[in-house]
Amino acid sequence: MRQSAIALLIGLAMIGATSRATGEPAQPYAPGPVEYMLQLQSHHNKLWLAGNARNWDLADYQADELKELLEDIAKRIPVYKDMPIGKMIEATVMPPMEGVEAAIKSRNSKAFASAFDKLTAGCNSCHEAAKRGFIVVQRPATSPFPNQSFAPKRK
Ligand code: HEC
Repeated sequence: MRQSAIALLIGLAMIGATSRATGEPAQPYAPGPVEYMLQLQSHHNKLWLAGNARNWDLADYQADELKELLEDIAKRIPVYKDMPIGKMIEATVMPPMEGVEAAIKSRNSKAFASAFDKLTAGCNSCHEAAKRGFIVVQRPATSPFPNQSFAPKRK
């Protein structure tokens, strides 16, 4: 009784895997711009929290992740709804990313804050160009990640 129920479930699962309502095979998951942007938002946020706390190791890591993600977006969605996303990323946020990296390397808080603001302005200028000027990112005032410490470790 129990075994036949399990066999029935497995059978149903196999039918589900090979054919959907349309009879077409399932498409692999491909994130769109919004999914990528939510990830960018998180790295942008953590980058500020780490750099502002002078936690340069974590800031360096976040800057790397942010840059990798930007490169990934440019590669995976070079054009979206006639918008040259790849080229726009190259023009708006890649140049200020270099300033952020330099400030982290030199462990200079003032330079970091100013470079971070330039990066943020880059994000927003792309939103303007993409007719999404109503999406405005800024320096985070508080941490939305209470389960992560941004303070530098005492060595
Ligand atoms: C290629 C230009 C471009 C760049 C550069 C860019 N964005 Fe975006 N962003 C978009 C577009 C386009 C959307 C809207 C996506 C849509 O409508 O599907 C968006 C949406 C967003 C949203 C709204 C997501 C939501 O649902 O709340 C956030 C937050 C965001 N971006 C953050 C950032 C941050 C932070 C940066 C900089 C590190 C950045 N973006 C850089 C084009 C860009």
